[in-house]
Amino acid sequence: MAVPRHVACVMDGNGRWAQRRSLPRTAGHRAAETAVIDVIEAARSAGVEWLSLYAFSTENWGRPGAEVDYLMRLVRRVVRKHAPLLLARGIRCRFLGASDSRIPSGLAADFADLTTLTHGNRGMTLTVAFDHGGRRDIVEAARSLIRAGVPADEVTEGLFAAHLPFPDTPDVDLVIRTSGEQRISNFMLWKVAYAEWAFPDVLWPDFRASHFLDCLGAYRRRDRRFGRLPAPTNGDHDEDR
Ligand code: IPE
Ligand code: IPE
Ligand code: MG
Repeated sequence: MAVPRHVACVMDGNGRWAQRRSLPRTAGHRAAETAVIDVIEAARSAGVEWLSLYAFSTENWGRPGAEVDYLMRLVRRVVRKHAPLLLARGIRCRFLGASDSRIPSGLAADFADLTTLTHGNRGMTLTVAFDHGGRRDIVEAARSLIRAGVPADEVTEGLFAAHLPFPDTPDVDLVIRTSGEQRISNFMLWKVAYAEWAFPDVLWPDFRASHFLDCLGAYRRRDRRFGRLPAPTNGDHDEDR
């Protein structure tokens, strides 16, 4: 198994990174920017075709208002600052979620602008999950099917997937969640059904290209079976299997 086609990162541990330095949580979010750029560059260089980054969940609205406001401003600054780099690297950018009316209109406009600016790029597709919830996407797909008048008997997994946002996105091959937490936190639920997982202990602001490449290396050693049997080795005979 070579390079995973679609890697999705749960960028976790910013708050703890700051706490360990006796800094406010926002300092951890600010320090996350370097990791984001490093991972985008590393993924692209490694030949990953699809990279998805979980930046803000539907549940994150439950954080204190000041932290939410800070994140909105920070993401806006990062998007504007790095737009030329993303364009130069041939990266197609899009934003998954981003439907809540609490998202500042200026940020929503920047999301739309970057999407339009990089629309024709074919280098790698970067999906930023912002105001994203996996369950919400599934409910929206169900609504969309019903609105389209699809008879119940005609609903297949393929058709259901076609009603999810960005239906051209392939299934996730590898999920990386930093900070040692081992949970999904409502991230791309449909598409991670058969993903491999990596849980590096490093906190997201410390995560660099080398850590990312370590995760790709671990992925390469996995045996993806999809419910079937391992690939036959020399000693195996068909009748034993
Ligand atoms: C991830 O870091 C960033 C967002 C969820 C926006 P956290 O803010 O969750 O950091 P910890 O988990 O509290 O350390
Ligand atoms: C998941 O991290 C969301 C993002 C990384 C954007 P959280 O820190 O919000 O998730 P929980 O609370 O640990 O499940
Ligand atoms: Mg967290």
